[in-house]
Amino acid sequence: MKIFHISRQLGWIGFIGTGNMASALISSLVKKGHKEIIASDKDTSQLDRVKAAYGIETTLDNLQVVSRSNTIILAVKPQNLEEVLNEIKSEISNDKGTNNKLIVSIAAGKTLQYLEDRLNYSRIVRAMPSMAIKYGLGTSAYVCSGGCSDTDRKAVEYIFNRNGVVFDVEEKDMAAITYLASLPGLMAKYLRAIALTLKHYGLRPEITKAYLSSILKTTAMLIDSNESFEKRYRAVASKGGTTQAAHKYGLKHGFYKTLAGMVGAAIERCRELER
Ligand SMILES: NC(=O)c1ccc[n+]([C@@H]2O[C@H](COP(=O)([O-])OP(=O)(O)OC[C@H]3O[C@@H](n4cnc5c(N)ncnc54)[C@H](OP(=O)(O)O)[C@@H]3O)[C@@H](O)[C@H]2O)c1
Repeated sequence: MKIFHISRQLGWIGFIGTGNMASALISSLVKKGHKEIIASDKDTSQLDRVKAAYGIETTLDNLQVVSRSNTIILAVKPQNLEEVLNEIKSEISNDKGTNNKLIVSIAAGKTLQYLEDRLNYSRIVRAMPSMAIKYGLGTSAYVCSGGCSDTDRKAVEYIFNRNGVVFDVEEKDMAAITYLASLPGLMAKYLRAIALTLKHYGLRPEITKAYLSSILKTTAMLIDSNESFEKRYRAVASKGGTTQAAHKYGLKHGFYKTLAGMVGAAIERCRELER
């Protein structure tokens, strides 16, 4: 199905919550030429910001978003989801006989079962995008409840893809995928630590910035080319050299174990939220 067909079929897409992730998704949809977007938030300044940036319709009324949209994306923090579900459930349940709205939640750790129980509804998608979509590289994953159709899957792939891949996954994989979605934030922390250390050693920040930028871009190319991480390491590290010194220091001080522990901590936290 051609993209403009999907866009036309989708009609109005509504966002409840217009924070970081909703803004990234709205920006991606607008760049794809999708015009029918409405969004609500309880924060007026957020609404003014997305309206000015993307020319979309905005409202303080979540129920208006629900009634006006064919697809509703729940983009509030997990701790705010319950209040939103309580608020919109009568509007969704009115729709129950016809199942004519697609509900998409991007909240970390909120399962399909949780969403189905709160809304008493089964045309629901749990999706996990990443902030990369804001910069034109949107790889995402999703899982659908029983009331979703193939057209819904195409709609989700349209909304969450931007020059990337959208994976239709099993729900058990969502915790690990949620870790991947958190990586843009964690990478920013890792890179900041490297940049601050180099500054401490007296290096001009613009030199660090230029190196980091080109190295990270080529790392992406390496991943796409399927060259193994070990091969790339060996191409850079010589015996007794500086790369090996850093690697050995990391091994001795448990750096890789810590890194694995950090991945595990994020996954466990997501599983905790899922319970
Ligand atoms: N950020 C990411 O990289 C990322 C990636 C994947 C998934 N997600 C998921 O996306 C969701 C949103 O994350 P975010 O980072 O975009 O959060 P955010 O920037 O805090 O945005 C959430 C917005 O929702 C508003 N809100 C809260 N309660 C509301 C209500 N009852 N009705 C309407 N709006 C309400 C918030 O207003 P107040 O600030 O006034 O409360 C805020 O403007 C989360 O569930 C997160 O797990 C985020």
